[in-house]
Amino acid sequence: MTALTLSTAAVPGLRADAIVIGVAKGTASKPAGPVVAPGAEAVDQAYDGGLAGVLETLGASGAEGEVTKLPAPAGFKAPLVVAVGLGAQPGKDAGYDTEVLRRAAGVAARTLAGVKKAAFALPLTDAAADAGAVAEGVLLGAYTFDAYKDRGKNGKAPLAEAALLGGKPRDKAFKAALERAVAVAEELNRARDLINTPPNDLNPEAFAAVAQVAAKEHGVKVQVLDEKALVKGGYGGILGVGAGSAAGPRLVKLSYTSSKAKKHLALVGKGITYDSGGISLKPAGHNETMKCDMSGAAAVFAAVVAAARLGLQVNVTGWLALAENMPSGSATRPGDVLRMYSGKTVEVLNTDAEGRLVLADALWAASQEKPDAIVDVATLTGAMVLALGDRTFGIMANDDAFRSAVHEAAEEVGEPAWQMPLPEHLRKGMDSPTADIANMGERMGGGLVAGLFLREFVGEGITWAHLDIAGPAFNEGAPFGYTPKGGTGSAVRTLVRLAELAASGDLA
Ligand code: BES
Ligand code: ZN
Ligand code: ZN
Repeated sequence: MTALTLSTAAVPGLRADAIVIGVAKGTASKPAGPVVAPGAEAVDQAYDGGLAGVLETLGASGAEGEVTKLPAPAGFKAPLVVAVGLGAQPGKDAGYDTEVLRRAAGVAARTLAGVKKAAFALPLTDAAADAGAVAEGVLLGAYTFDAYKDRGKNGKAPLAEAALLGGKPRDKAFKAALERAVAVAEELNRARDLINTPPNDLNPEAFAAVAQVAAKEHGVKVQVLDEKALVKGGYGGILGVGAGSAAGPRLVKLSYTSSKAKKHLALVGKGITYDSGGISLKPAGHNETMKCDMSGAAAVFAAVVAAARLGLQVNVTGWLALAENMPSGSATRPGDVLRMYSGKTVEVLNTDAEGRLVLADALWAASQEKPDAIVDVATLTGAMVLALGDRTFGIMANDDAFRSAVHEAAEEVGEPAWQMPLPEHLRKGMDSPTADIANMGERMGGGLVAGLFLREFVGEGITWAHLDIAGPAFNEGAPFGYTPKGGTGSAVRTLVRLAELAASGDLA
């Protein structure tokens, strides 16, 4: 990953391959053209105060996502200036939004692939918090997944080194913000790697092995239930989904404990390493990206390890419900009835609604420890993608205040999310003539139906939220901000924020 430093060096004498500055949109009245953002004063001075004019000549408007490259002024040690758009200027006395800075830093870092060292001279008005956002943006934006490519032929190495200017290297708050950014971004990028790894190389057993190694490295306890243990324990949901695959399912429990913890947060992740649909096979055109169906488990894994690395004063337990959903002679059939870990029976009407089956067992397992709250994360329904598009995840919960708190946490870290209801009348659509419940209900509101199904497997009295990340988990389009193509690491930062809030007693 890109190496980060805080630097107090003066821009002209700085040894780097590029200097990144911010450029904002002008106002209609004065001036109409782009405006150079704070942090770039030295660069502007070297252009005799005419940098905004030069940028305008080059076509810059200051719009978010825009990149303008220009040769550095005479006398500068760095040869290149990269001006990145920040959008509208903030109001009087206000700083740029941290998410604007995070995205701009991400865009710049991605643009600078192949470059060794860049200095970031972006406006850090809110000091440490802004430096943390820029650091996160750089580390997330520089990410590439090229494990399966010959880099010599196919692309450039990610930006190797980033120096953040305008920070105070010896200031405690700055150091802490940077350390947090590094821990969160490293684990988030690890989640992206897992999501992007092809399903022939990442089956449940392989995922569990990766989790075991990484978690141990950071003092997280790991327990893996293999097929035999799942049979013994009666995990009918996870076993039923994994029954068609040559690679057996796993339930991984990750425990991070703090001696100073007052709260216990449980995180549950859907970990379908490949979702073919099973006997209710997905048609071509709907299965090419289904290696991403373990994004929830990847997010939970990343968040637990990040919480451990940050030494948060809270107990966090992660449950990864891992299975491969395949059709075969041993696969679960539509019409089969599964006896779940909770003891309830489920009539499987559609084997492609498999996520709720593995999650049901993991939610019930998590509930047995009576945590203060459970949050599950899953690429659960196409319906949620239809409802919210491909950048926003849906939040459902059995508690209005908790749902709002999760939404606020998501907004704080810059993850677009929206609150969705669990309408009671949709429950009866899952009534089954044969079993306690069916795994499918009404088609309309399919994302909410899935949420209602999960609710049945949360222990009595436990506060619970469900994040359906089917839209934002995997970016099939062009990269934007600090979000690459492919696995995005959606929900990791929201989960880490929730763990921080639980640690400070501000959650549940
Ligand atoms: N993994 C899919 C949901 C999904 C869709 C994730 C698109 C990412 C992008 C899930 O297992 C699924 O197939 N759900 C079905 C449920 C239906 C059969 C009730 C769906 O949404 O169509
Ligand atoms: Zn499915
Ligand atoms: Zn699925």
